[in-house]
Amino acid sequence: MTHISTSVTVRQATRGDAEPLVAVLTEAFFDGPVADWLVPDHRDRQIVYRRYFELVFNHGLDNGHVDTTADLSAVAIWYPRAEPRRGDSREYQVALEAATGTYAPKFALLDAVFEAFHPSEPHHYLAYVAVQPEQQRRGVGAALLDHHHRQLDALGMPAYLEASNLRNRELYVRLGYRAGPPLILPTTGPTIWRMWRGQPDAARPAAFPESRLLPRRRSL
Ligand SMILES: CC(C)(COP(=O)(O)OP(=O)(O)OC[C@H]1O[C@@H](n2cnc3c(N)ncnc32)[C@H](O)[C@@H]1OP(=O)(O)O)[C@@H](O)C(=O)NCCC(=O)NCCS
Repeated sequence: MTHISTSVTVRQATRGDAEPLVAVLTEAFFDGPVADWLVPDHRDRQIVYRRYFELVFNHGLDNGHVDTTADLSAVAIWYPRAEPRRGDSREYQVALEAATGTYAPKFALLDAVFEAFHPSEPHHYLAYVAVQPEQQRRGVGAALLDHHHRQLDALGMPAYLEASNLRNRELYVRLGYRAGPPLILPTTGPTIWRMWRGQPDAARPAAFPESRLLPRRRSL
């Protein structure tokens, strides 16, 4: 049975909560098969994850709904999705590439795979949930999700998420989700160098053009 802590107070996060909640996201997601795949080098991961989750947190505040606990030890980022997405803004794509650098193709690929298998019927999408590592296994994550699930139940609204490991999957099953077929990500691949030959201009060396990243899913 799922233990849902009753001592957890949930409130909506604000921009002032960014520093502690970006730290919670960075630390909670730091280990695991997805992190190993996205940014194998641990030193790079520290830098890339902090920048990436800063972007993710602000994007959630601007475009979705972000819950946290009174002690700022947990965060959940939800996106109401009334209809299929048409892709992210150009601005977001540029910010993603700036935040993740050479790892951008993997972040974009992960998002594209998730988006391709996303349900089309209206639902709320749980893009991220994280609990500070020292506070895990105390029912905080379940309480945070339960808070939003109650609102969804009152609206008759389904919820959807991708579980990143078997333990998480069990938690979500206990909270009422049903598991679908798994998504298996490509594991390795060669490095490809993008090359650009701009119009010759002796006074100004040709800048590398902006790229069009694959569509992203963690937003609306
Ligand atoms: C998943 C997560 C949000 C759950 O929050 P929590 O407060 O630890 O969860 P609860 O105490 O309410 O429930 C515990 C259950 O969560 C699941 N869980 C998954 N990973 C866990 C972890 N590293 N530590 C503790 N519980 C974890 C298990 O099912 C666990 O039950 P069990 O102890 O019987 O195996 C939290 O563990 C976390 O932040 N993990 C890292 C980030 C992550 O994986 N986010 C979800 C992506 S799908």
